[in-house]
Amino acid sequence: MTQHLISGGQSITAPDNLKPLLQDILQQALGVTRGKVADYIPALAEVKPDYCALTVATLDGSVTSVGDATTPFSIQSISKIFGLMLAMERLDEKLWQRVQMEPSGQPFNSIVQLEWEKGIPRNPMINAGAILVSDVLVSHYSASKSAVLSMVRGLCASDSVCVDRRVHQSEIEHGARNAALAYLMKSFGNLEADVDEVLDHYFWQCALTMSTEDLARALAFLANRGTCPYSGKAITSHRDAQRINALLSTSGMYDQSGQFAFTVGLPAKSGVGGGIVAIVPDYGVIAAWAPPLNSYGNSARGMEMIRNLANRLGLSVY
Ligand code: DON
Repeated sequence: MTQHLISGGQSITAPDNLKPLLQDILQQALGVTRGKVADYIPALAEVKPDYCALTVATLDGSVTSVGDATTPFSIQSISKIFGLMLAMERLDEKLWQRVQMEPSGQPFNSIVQLEWEKGIPRNPMINAGAILVSDVLVSHYSASKSAVLSMVRGLCASDSVCVDRRVHQSEIEHGARNAALAYLMKSFGNLEADVDEVLDHYFWQCALTMSTEDLARALAFLANRGTCPYSGKAITSHRDAQRINALLSTSGMYDQSGQFAFTVGLPAKSGVGGGIVAIVPDYGVIAAWAPPLNSYGNSARGMEMIRNLANRLGLSVY
């Protein structure tokens, strides 16, 4: 057993060998039969529903996994974290004049609030906010896609991060709701670049493919005050890592963020590909993947695995 001090001076005791615990949790989650694989684009509807993976990457460099943890999947909205990192670096405080930092209490692709609030999205974790972030990237980088891809590959020290061209194309073909969000923001003067270019970047980013092991390693800096624990390199400032974790806590699980804080108590982000990452400050990252989604668009088994692990190890930050 190893004692770790996590944020707030709280201590957790985790077994040195996490594998049997993760195995037990994965087996229990396979009994959760709720959920339906995302079917808004054919490329995601075809994904086998019984994939299941759980990875814990700790700050000392150890990575423990069970299930399909090296199989790449469509990270979808988890990519909102990567886009946001680059936009925060480029615009700093000015970013927060164009997107808020409040939970929305609405589904991730909701449009109603955006009109009431004059084209300023509630937060960067919902679709409207991530499209706004994509506008910042397209306007400030000569090659916004390569900027994201090389950053993500560098973060997990792996060239296996790719983009699923079929998913990208499918997103474009079925992107009417996201286009509506983008045009509404444009009508309020909150998008600078060409709408098609902004949407193309947003859809491309959603189509990134990574495994739970890649994701857990890539986001370890968020558990380590902005510094990659493996290379010692500063990825973001301590303040920006705190701000990203705060946004994940309040908005990362969409209109289920309150319930997730209540039952799990960790900053987290989900995607409709079935992935969820949860940050355990000063300890590490948990990444889960299981395609069937609940009615909020969050992986039903993924939530259950993270809840079970966080409760058994006492990981809540609250
Ligand atoms: O733009 C969309 O609606 C999807 N490509 C991504 C949404 C998503 O992942 C929401 N996650 N739970």
